[in-house]
Amino acid sequence: MDTLQVRGLHFTYPKSGTRAIDGIDFDIREGEIFGFLGPSGAGKSTTQRILIRLLQGYGGEITYRGRPLSSYDNGFYQDIGVSFEMPISFSKLTALENLAFFQRLYAQHADVEALMKRVGLWDDRDKKAGEYSKGMKIRLNFVRALLNNPKVLFLDEPTNGLDPVNANIMKEMVREFRDAGGTVFLTSHIMGDVDELCDRVAFIVDGRIREMDTPRSLKIKYGKRTVRVEYREDGAVVPAEFTFDDIRTERFASLLQEKEIETIHSGETTLEDIFIKVTGVRLHEE
Ligand SMILES: Nc1ncnc2c1ncn2[C@@H]1O[C@H](COP(=O)(O)OP(=O)(O)OP(=O)(O)O)[C@@H](O)[C@H]1O
Ligand SMILES: [Mg+2]
Repeated sequence: MDTLQVRGLHFTYPKSGTRAIDGIDFDIREGEIFGFLGPSGAGKSTTQRILIRLLQGYGGEITYRGRPLSSYDNGFYQDIGVSFEMPISFSKLTALENLAFFQRLYAQHADVEALMKRVGLWDDRDKKAGEYSKGMKIRLNFVRALLNNPKVLFLDEPTNGLDPVNANIMKEMVREFRDAGGTVFLTSHIMGDVDELCDRVAFIVDGRIREMDTPRSLKIKYGKRTVRVEYREDGAVVPAEFTFDDIRTERFASLLQEKEIETIHSGETTLEDIFIKVTGVRLHEE
């Protein structure tokens, strides 16, 4: 079953002359991690804000679990967990006080101690949120998203601003959430994370979806069906390229048997290259 179905969605911010979302269709299946990728300003956060009912006045149809999203009351928020692009918390309250405040809004309660330990914040639980570092705020925000044992998680750039160790912990937690039956919508520019995490991805550019598939299928579609070999001959390194049809030939077999091979690479592409091809935008990653 699809958790969310989006049909012909379009949205224009008040006072803006152009559509931020310009007619998109996609489904998020139950139990999958669905990645929404695209350059800055493409409409990723806007789409998330619409899906979590923060923005009204959109055109098109959205159904959640088979019913129009607009027909749900605030009980919808019992079902979902959200982590925003900019972490929000009450800066004068401690981390635990923040979590206790938000937990009161929910019927279901996750184990705060276990979550805080998992993200490495338990020792800093009595520090004021305002005195947290950027990465600590992001982690606290992620715990907040899980407070109500949600069925669906919406994560806007979840690993952005985290060091690699904490990013890995978060990715592990997102995968576990999915493996336990949860559904995830996430946005990101970090193609490595997306490749590791997402079951399916959509590329959005200027409010339109340009491409949508599994990372594997996209790599096959955009990759070259070739094998590149470098071998040594008379002291020099000689490059050679074979198509997938060529590798069945005697020439390829004898090269592997007789030459001293230095490197072998397939022409498989990366999601980063696909991002550049599909969006026409080069990624600037630190
Ligand atoms: N509150 C707002 N009022 C008016 N226009 C907005 C508002 N928020 C976003 N926009 C516009 O909507 C478009 C999509 O913005 P959005 O924040 O969804 O992009 P994004 O894909 O999340 O980008 P980023 O990767 O930088 O977070 C942009 O043209 C942006 O200027
Ligand atoms: Mg955004």
